[in-house]
Amino acid sequence: MKVLQSPQAARQWCLRSGSPRVLVPTMGALHEGHAALIRRAKRMAGREGSVVVSLFVNPTQFGPTEDFEAYPKPLASDLALCREAGADLVFHPAASQMYAGDHSTTIKESSLTTVLCGKSRPGHFDGVCTIVAKLFLILTPTHAVFGEKDWQQLAILRRMVRDLGFSVKIQSVAIVRERDGLALSSRNSYLTPSERAVASKICEALRTSASLPSPVTICRQARERLEKISGARVDYVEAVDAKTLAPLRDRSRPGRLAAAVFLGKARLIDNVPLSVLP
Ligand code: PAJ
Repeated sequence: MKVLQSPQAARQWCLRSGSPRVLVPTMGALHEGHAALIRRAKRMAGREGSVVVSLFVNPTQFGPTEDFEAYPKPLASDLALCREAGADLVFHPAASQMYAGDHSTTIKESSLTTVLCGKSRPGHFDGVCTIVAKLFLILTPTHAVFGEKDWQQLAILRRMVRDLGFSVKIQSVAIVRERDGLALSSRNSYLTPSERAVASKICEALRTSASLPSPVTICRQARERLEKISGARVDYVEAVDAKTLAPLRDRSRPGRLAAAVFLGKARLIDNVPLSVLP
């Protein structure tokens, strides 16, 4: 496994590497959720292809009061996980190599970013779109793998690829969870033991409510359950169309029940499918 910091060197490596070339963008602090993405990428790449993992805590997607400085950066264990899961190249640039001091160009999706996390994290998805577009331009992947944990991010990046005509196929991977249901997240490390003990109730609240027939009652019940979790503050809980992220009116189209909940220092997000009911 090769580890490169320089965008120019990574570009050269990619141009010489086999196809399909499958990219897994990450911010590091890797866990089994990321490992599942890299393993999927390995299967997609096959014997001829290559798997590229980017490790970059992207400053432009963090708000001024968010956890950019505190975001964990365990490089040695990240590299070990990448090697174990089958990465061929790890691209690990410094912020100065990705952004000029006076950078002033941004990619902005202006529809799907107005709801859910986009509302409470202004500018966040501009940062995500800009960095992912840059990674696509530097590393020229044929495919890229993203997790369903960040459902809105996935929908926005699919839209960006369509709208800007990137020739990158996007593949998604289901949410990897702890045994008690908590979605794996780099931010779970912020939880105290007592917060961790109740964190699985987020997923439980979403799953239980998802079986109800109407989106309005689903959201009402999910909110009630989330608000009962000790120490939790609900940012949002919404039932949306799985693709357009518009409010889900009934269960005749595939939907997603998505929530963001503050628990101590952590802001946790999760989502579950709302399948079509007969
Ligand atoms: P990060 O939070 O590191 O996540 C990298 C990828 O791993 C994303 O596609 C995310 O959805 C996926 N992932 C995280 N936890 C997961 C879980 N429990 N199950 C399945 N997949 C999971 O998302 C980002 O980084 C950044 O916004 C990025 C796209 C890299 C741009 O900076």
